[in-house]
Amino acid sequence: MSRLVCVSNRISLPRKSAAPGGLAVGVLSALKRTGGLWFGWGGDTIGHEPGDPDQLIRDGVTYATIDLRTRDFELYYNGYSNQMLWPLFHYFLRGMRYSVEERDAYESVNRLFAQKLLPLLQERDLIWVHDYHLIPLGRQLREAGVRRPLGFFLHIPFPNIEMLRVLPTYAELLRDLTHYDVVGFQTQNDLKAFYSGIEHLFGAEAIRSDGRIRVGDRVLRADVFPIGVDVASVQNEAVEAMSSDVVRRMYDSLMGRHLMVGVDRLDYSKGLPERFSAYQHFLETYPENSGRITYLQIAPLSRSDVKAYVEIRQALEQAAGRTNGRFADTDWTPIRYLNRNFPHSTLMGLLRSAHVGIVTPLRDGMNLVAKEFVAAQNADDPGVLVLSTLAGAARELNSALLVNPYDSRAVGHAIQAALSMPLPERRERHAAMLQTLKRNDIASWSRRFVEALEKADGTDTRVR
Ligand code: G6P
Repeated sequence: MSRLVCVSNRISLPRKSAAPGGLAVGVLSALKRTGGLWFGWGGDTIGHEPGDPDQLIRDGVTYATIDLRTRDFELYYNGYSNQMLWPLFHYFLRGMRYSVEERDAYESVNRLFAQKLLPLLQERDLIWVHDYHLIPLGRQLREAGVRRPLGFFLHIPFPNIEMLRVLPTYAELLRDLTHYDVVGFQTQNDLKAFYSGIEHLFGAEAIRSDGRIRVGDRVLRADVFPIGVDVASVQNEAVEAMSSDVVRRMYDSLMGRHLMVGVDRLDYSKGLPERFSAYQHFLETYPENSGRITYLQIAPLSRSDVKAYVEIRQALEQAAGRTNGRFADTDWTPIRYLNRNFPHSTLMGLLRSAHVGIVTPLRDGMNLVAKEFVAAQNADDPGVLVLSTLAGAARELNSALLVNPYDSRAVGHAIQAALSMPLPERRERHAAMLQTLKRNDIASWSRRFVEALEKADGTDTRVR
């Protein structure tokens, strides 16, 4: 039996509050299914060289974590990962900056990951690296002599070559990806974008008729593995949370009003200013909703040392204040805007309480909140999902009300359409989406990826 080793920048340690974002949810569920090792940064920065990883074993999963030097972390995480790769991969050139020093730190932190991981590896491991922080890790593990199957999954979008070429070291990035045996993406679009890069760098002949990529004497598989949710567990969490104190107090405070809920990390890619102005548009266009709807936006702070995140936070505080100042009444606040996180189960209860789920990112790899919203609903009387066409999830959830997140008028109309949608239509749309979620759930995501890695074990990656 082989052992699964997952590597990611951030990991979700047991008994700490869940790490934000879809990655932590996905990796944890993969490891809980198979057991194995999760290796990553433990969340602390230090003033000296990091020592050996700390290890903790819980329910068949070993959590191995390292600290990072404060300066390395600053350059690798706040710098290259989140001010170069994140904006570029989300098509936000404005928020992007390239620095050779940050690029070097990115390389050296990846080398540190390889060095600290190596002694923990066993003979029959399958190694699965996650996300944009760790693209060079596969090459570095190969250079250190690792011959076991190596997989990489990108949780965020992959840009087309015309966008990727903006990065001075785009060729190295593409080459680094070819050191893996399996490279996985969220959507067909991302896969196509990756092929566009491969074709640009290695020529069209590098892509074989079966979709595999041949570079030098290696063959790798690139494919789509859309991440999903654990439908039954979201449903259970949501139902249970409905009787929790937090959800009940929130529900009582609505006093019979409709509820619209958004849950997003406070990130400029999530389209929150655009969403706030769409809501304002909606209140102007359909004044009959005045006093009859509450919009609850939960936006836990994220990457708060990065300037663009400080700016978006300020912009949102002002926008929420403007809307409330203009529309609120003595007994009604149109937007409840919260910069804090809640336990996952509470969030599921809040999603279940909502008549409208609003998920309007300007660009998103998948967006698990959209899927969780659908899974959390009461199938007899389900709420309606308003979903951005620019989220990966829109490919599967095409029975949502799909909107362009930049078009505030269209988003405003969609909110109104959601509120006035008759029950049979709500049920029909919800049932169609739930079926898709069950077919493509979180277990099948990790199972398919691990199977692909298992196939790469042995002769599969050699040229035949
Ligand atoms: C997204 C990324 C993850 C990341 C998460 C939270 O989901 O794909 O890699 O872990 O956001 O962001 P943070 O910077 O706090 O880890």
